[in-house]
Amino acid sequence: MYKNLLKIAGLALLIVACSGPKSPQDKLMVNEKKINAIIAQMSLEEKVEMLHSKTNMSSAGVPRLGIADVNYADGPFGIREEGVPNGFTPAGWTLDSATYFPTGSALAATWSEELAYLYGTGMGKEARLRGKDVILGPAVNIQRLPVGGRTYEYLSEDPILSAALSMNYTKGVQDQGTAVCIKHFAVNNQETNRGSVDAQVDERTLREIYLKPFERAIVEGGAMSVMPAYNKVNGDYCSENEHLLNEILRGEWGFKGFTVSDWGGTHSTMGAMLHGLNVQMTGSNYMGQPVIDSVKTGALTEDQVDEKVRQILRVRFAIEPVPADVANTEMTSKPEQQQIAYKVAQRSIVLLKNEGKVLPLSKDVKKIAVVGQNAVLKTQSGGMGAGVKALYEITPLQGIQKRAGDAVEVVYAPGYKNFPGRRWGPAPAVANPLEAAAIDEPADPALLAEAVEAAKDADVVIFFGGTNKSIETEGSDRSDINLPTGQEEVVAALYEANPNLVTVLISGGPTDLQVLEQYSPAIVQGWWNGTEGGTALAEVLFGDIAPSGKLPFTFPVKLEDSPAYAMGNFPDKTQGGDLFTLMYRADATQMTREERQKLIDAMPKPVSKYTEGSLVGYRWFDTKNVKPMYAFGHGLSYVDFTYGPMNVKSGKKSIKVTFDLTNAGDMEADEVAQLYVRRIDSKVEWPAKELKAFQRVTLAPGETKAVTLEIKADDLRYWNVDTNAWTLEHGKLELLLGSASDDIRQKADASI
Ligand code: BGC
Repeated sequence: MYKNLLKIAGLALLIVACSGPKSPQDKLMVNEKKINAIIAQMSLEEKVEMLHSKTNMSSAGVPRLGIADVNYADGPFGIREEGVPNGFTPAGWTLDSATYFPTGSALAATWSEELAYLYGTGMGKEARLRGKDVILGPAVNIQRLPVGGRTYEYLSEDPILSAALSMNYTKGVQDQGTAVCIKHFAVNNQETNRGSVDAQVDERTLREIYLKPFERAIVEGGAMSVMPAYNKVNGDYCSENEHLLNEILRGEWGFKGFTVSDWGGTHSTMGAMLHGLNVQMTGSNYMGQPVIDSVKTGALTEDQVDEKVRQILRVRFAIEPVPADVANTEMTSKPEQQQIAYKVAQRSIVLLKNEGKVLPLSKDVKKIAVVGQNAVLKTQSGGMGAGVKALYEITPLQGIQKRAGDAVEVVYAPGYKNFPGRRWGPAPAVANPLEAAAIDEPADPALLAEAVEAAKDADVVIFFGGTNKSIETEGSDRSDINLPTGQEEVVAALYEANPNLVTVLISGGPTDLQVLEQYSPAIVQGWWNGTEGGTALAEVLFGDIAPSGKLPFTFPVKLEDSPAYAMGNFPDKTQGGDLFTLMYRADATQMTREERQKLIDAMPKPVSKYTEGSLVGYRWFDTKNVKPMYAFGHGLSYVDFTYGPMNVKSGKKSIKVTFDLTNAGDMEADEVAQLYVRRIDSKVEWPAKELKAFQRVTLAPGETKAVTLEIKADDLRYWNVDTNAWTLEHGKLELLLGSASDDIRQKADASI
């Protein structure tokens, strides 16, 4: 009897514990009864309608039962302009100009969870104005390759930084009543052969590096939908990958929402139906009639279809549809969101180098020569899927002109031609002759001479270099990270004419700075920085605000120093076996999709081996003692910061580190304090050090603040391949606190 009472009491305790705060995914489970009742009323045909695209950017609801369609919008850095129902061709609307937010790598350079959240709220609000239910973003894959075509969309090379930002972005969006569709799940780190490449990655690296930004957004952020990537992971396409979609996403992380294949990334009926896909985008050749047929022949059960529908309806019920007469009645871009874009841009700009304190520009400057087409280039669109039709975009030149006012003369020279990009189908006539250079074409003598002339009698020269969205783009990787179209020649000539020279890089990813370094006393990484990018940049250059961005990825000295290149893992020698690659091959552009697919099937299958393991980015450079050009986490200010000694408190769940951070300068400035961990005497292999916590801190001139950083014990675990579980190895650690991965100011021992 007594024993039974104890048992009952224990059970009661268990129930109380289990009914505690719901996990973010459990919030999707509140309408199960209603959903089941609806499913019971649906015909098989109605159910299957929901499993594939209705238009290029929607999937069907159940009109008869009052269930609205699901409307999608690209992401990730602005709500994309409206396309025609059956494709991406602009629909020609007038109210669909959105706020262009700084792109992924710029957001990540803020190292700010608060800003990532705010950014998400901005995206979510504008999605609602457009009647969108799901934003196709954030895009959170780890930046593995410096040449990666989507580096600018993605966040960082580090999983802790990426995970913190992706989780906050997700919460920001979803708190506005819009769902995210986090992408591209998973290991989508290259565009080369992206539609067929098999990313072969070991389980520990997969868990610790590549899945982390997804895991936090789903488990803690409650991401409601997920986009499986185009590529394969360890043999199976992501859109039918049992391990990724069923075992990890749903099984381990408790994901309750639905998955949407990347556009054209569904590959079979049974694979998709059995291994975790909910919606085929776009088309219905796999998830339409063939599903109905399969149920009729008994290859699939109707229960299996019901489960797919249930997962979609959970999100449909969590997201209130925007009534048709409310959506699209006002301009998408709103001042409130433009302010968010502005705030992010201000904090993303990275001062890489400032020899002789060329920056901020002296108050005595009377004439500025701005050289380089990237100073006038708008970066809102291009790069394929992720473009935005911005309501407005302040270019760097406009920002400088406005800030300079009448007192300072600003002259502009284009300096070099720009590369117009490779295109699918016949190249269109290029209207602007300044946009007609081959990528490796030397400098144009006339443009060069004009630029030198402008530089000669200026007080300071600001050279704008970098890439553009034809060079860094979805669909292809760069073949190298060289500065294009003779930019190095231009900067060398400018320096000779006037050594008071600042270089600003307008790009999404890293570039090779070996030559540029020699001719640039100051270098700024200016990103593709959104609607207010030019305003923010001018404020940094003129010293109205101190730069405070930190690199979210390593700038290698040369491409071959970076891990996948050094290990011979990239580029893969297998060429051409990919639908997307064939888009650019003259003889294949006229073929039908089926004909191209046949061609691919006969070709060798591309593979990407990840034998560098967890040594991605700075983990590689540190562990192998390879000096980068600019290290992960690097970014200078106009002031100096001093770091006091660490007070370390080790607990069961976390290690807390407190220290004094002082702004030793005479202007307000932000610092991003970074805490890395080095393992001591571990039985497991680790990189030389790993980022485990960080915080952006604002300090008034001379101010000291006590800052606390917390390392969660969970973030110190490793994926144990013997037990297939996260394992915490107890033992000693060294804590490394500093301003960058290569600028450690304080060290302390700790144990866990
Ligand atoms: C991209 C996705 C995008 C989709 C829809 C695909 O090509 O990979 O990121 O969301 O197109 O535009």
